[in-house]
Amino acid sequence: MPVYCITGANRGLGLEFVQQLAQSPDNTIIATTRSLSSDLGGLQAVVSPSTRVLQCDTGSVPSIHSFVKSVAQALGGDTKIDFVLNVAGVNPTPSQSSLNLGPDDLQAQIAVNVIGPAKVVELLLDAGLLSQDVRVLNMSSSLGSMERTAQAKPHQCAGYSISKAALNMLTVHQSEDLRHRLPGAVVISMDPGWVRTRMGGEAAMLEPSQSIGGMLRVLHRLSSKDAGSFYDHSGEKVPW
Ligand SMILES: NC(=O)c1ccc[n+]([C@@H]2O[C@H](COP(=O)([O-])OP(=O)(O)OC[C@H]3O[C@@H](n4cnc5c(N)ncnc54)[C@H](OP(=O)(O)O)[C@@H]3O)[C@@H](O)[C@H]2O)c1
Repeated sequence: MPVYCITGANRGLGLEFVQQLAQSPDNTIIATTRSLSSDLGGLQAVVSPSTRVLQCDTGSVPSIHSFVKSVAQALGGDTKIDFVLNVAGVNPTPSQSSLNLGPDDLQAQIAVNVIGPAKVVELLLDAGLLSQDVRVLNMSSSLGSMERTAQAKPHQCAGYSISKAALNMLTVHQSEDLRHRLPGAVVISMDPGWVRTRMGGEAAMLEPSQSIGGMLRVLHRLSSKDAGSFYDHSGEKVPW
């Protein structure tokens, strides 16, 4: 009975993860949203009986602390999380370049795209809620790849790109640090492709169902040799 914990589950890619995982009654799903007072109609329409919807504002460390307490209560007993899917992310200032970065805008992106995934893993670990073989997926982007970004024309979304590159470095550190505490743990970064969501926009190449279907296949066949890697939704390695 695997247990999945998904951030940013009320729409976009997080919602699609819940939709696909909820097809199996074997899966326990902790679906988190920034606020329980948001419109959660899309999420409520896809949840299974073994899905718990909990609040977690990944841009707020106090909110992540409260969330971890509520996970402990929701799971009870010795049940641990097998998959942490750090999906919540923001790209609020796509037109900013490296020559006009807003400091507050960049900090807001670092808070959600980097500190959030770091603290979710750290605090769940400290609460003893991660399984020995936990898989952590940090949702990155090709814009977080140095090599891809160097080749891209035109350069775009500078703050977002910088925050996703930092998330990739977090993956490398988490991968090593987590294995000292949980020897079977595997942490990866993933590029979901360009996907039709509110962030990806209407012109995107992929439907969420294609991207998430591919990412779940990659996730479910991870082994220790994949620790600290960066994959796309089809399982190809993405250059750092
Ligand atoms: N779509 C693409 O083409 C694409 C490409 C590369 C990478 N990605 C990455 O994939 C992930 C999901 O993107 P998406 O396309 O699904 O974007 P989206 O449609 O804009 O959805 C973003 C999700 O993140 C949540 N979120 C944002 N800030 C949050 C916070 N402080 N606390 C909790 N949840 C928060 C949003 O919740 P609210 O509704 O409360 O705002 C929403 O559920 C992101 O990390 C993104 O960077 C997407």
